[in-house]
Amino acid sequence: MSDNTPSREHWSGALGFILAAAGSAIGLGNIWKFPYITGENGGGAFVLVYLLCIAVIGAPVMICEFTLGRRTQRNPVGAFKALAPKTSVLAHIVGAGVLLAGLFLLLFQSWGWGAVLVGLGLIIFRYGWTTVGAMGVLAGFTILSFYSVVAGWTLGYVWKAAVGQLDFATVDAAKDYFVEFTFNPYWAVGCHFVFVVLCVLIVYRGIKSGIERWSKILMPVLLLILLALIIRSLTLPGAMEGVRFYLTPDFSKINTGTVLTALGHAFFSLSLGMGAMITYGSYISREENLFTSTLSVVALDTLIALMAGLAIFPAVFAQGFQPDAGPGLVFQVLPTVFHQIPLGAFWAFLFFLLLLIAALTSGISLLEVVTAYFVDERGWKRHHAAVVFGGAIFLLGALCAVSVGGISDWTRLETLHEVLLKVFGSTKASFFDTMDNLSTNWFLPLGGLFISVFVGWVWGTKHALDEIRHGSRNFGDVHLVSLLAGLRDDPSHSSGVHALTLASLWGIFIRFISPVAVLIAFLHTIGWLNLTPQAAPAPEPPPIEEAQ
Ligand code: PHE
Repeated sequence: MSDNTPSREHWSGALGFILAAAGSAIGLGNIWKFPYITGENGGGAFVLVYLLCIAVIGAPVMICEFTLGRRTQRNPVGAFKALAPKTSVLAHIVGAGVLLAGLFLLLFQSWGWGAVLVGLGLIIFRYGWTTVGAMGVLAGFTILSFYSVVAGWTLGYVWKAAVGQLDFATVDAAKDYFVEFTFNPYWAVGCHFVFVVLCVLIVYRGIKSGIERWSKILMPVLLLILLALIIRSLTLPGAMEGVRFYLTPDFSKINTGTVLTALGHAFFSLSLGMGAMITYGSYISREENLFTSTLSVVALDTLIALMAGLAIFPAVFAQGFQPDAGPGLVFQVLPTVFHQIPLGAFWAFLFFLLLLIAALTSGISLLEVVTAYFVDERGWKRHHAAVVFGGAIFLLGALCAVSVGGISDWTRLETLHEVLLKVFGSTKASFFDTMDNLSTNWFLPLGGLFISVFVGWVWGTKHALDEIRHGSRNFGDVHLVSLLAGLRDDPSHSSGVHALTLASLWGIFIRFISPVAVLIAFLHTIGWLNLTPQAAPAPEPPPIEEAQ
């Protein structure tokens, strides 16, 4: 295994790395999704559950990803290839299981899924653990394809706000405008195109002068804009009612479904489960402290998510609107809110710019996963890989963009859609929803599950700890109780006897708690395990179109 390959570019230091990783984590998930799911799921009570998920599952899995990346200095596929044993019984069992399930489906004439599962089973059989890395690269495509469509809408709204067109007296008018905008293929595809071009331009420049440089510029700008918006929002008369709605804990809304929503969102928001953090980890040098870096990234991500709610809800309440618009809140209610505030167009411009910046630093991390794979494993030049796969993602995303709205004008696509429906026999979800569902409900949880099983049981927490120790000695040696008591340096507390250290706690989380929790969440989301029989159905957020 290559160790710090001399030709591999690295972050210039801890700050650059932390800002880039936080840039990946902080995205539409924080500013668009977190506030509305918090509002819907019990406010402060939901925040507590979310923090617990982050601490017990999110942060431990993030350390695993950084460690895999730094150890191997490779993209997700290369990382698994380097560390996985030649033959793995577990991989064979999973492969055989998937193969059988596929044959079973074929027997019942479910041709599309049957064929997919048979193929997948054979791949797992042949490539073993490397399949997990490959799934991450694939997820890079599927996530970015729908993510960049929403980012494109944001970009369009920045422009519309700048030219003063985002000015609506009623929510209905704003809704009509949003539908018209997203249904117009020229706007939807055009903005999506510009967004992908921005991602390609940054990834094209490489790690230091591309991703790191832009993260260092954009993340502080994001924070400043957010602060300005919060101050504006909180100083509106009646703002406190919004704060109360957002943060007052309502424990009656906490049920299994809420916990699973929090867990799923923790994965998405921290960019876990698809190798983005493995890839970013592969550009870290051996001196960096993986533990404190993880804490910083997780803290920044959570802070920005909480702050986004403080920018949104007080303004919504102060202007007398309902906070329950769900996914449509940002595009449909907020423009109307801004309309009633002095200098509204300016604030609307700032808000959508904020959303755009957040989406951009996440978009580049998704494209980087794909790019790094083709550079490391296939020997492509970075420039070529960024442009070619940016192009491919643009095409896939264009299908998502038109599937939301104007598909009926595109007869060929309509036919393609029908064929897909026939083969896969799914419900008539749009291509956009299919990509979203596939990534968020399948690829990320499965990826997270296999990453923790791999580090916990296959590669082994001991090897992982050896890697984490570089740059972070304390992690393996500090007695947790001493740390909490503030006695870390007291000689009597570092006797070296077996004790509860941070590392042992992490190992337990990774081997037992995360795999079980993620597996339960996954089975629940795909409907194989119903944990909330009589209560409301699992509150997976409704697809975007429903809000129209
Ligand atoms: N974390 C990003 C967000 O919150 C989305 C993302 C997921 C980015 C997975 C990269 C990988 O919007």
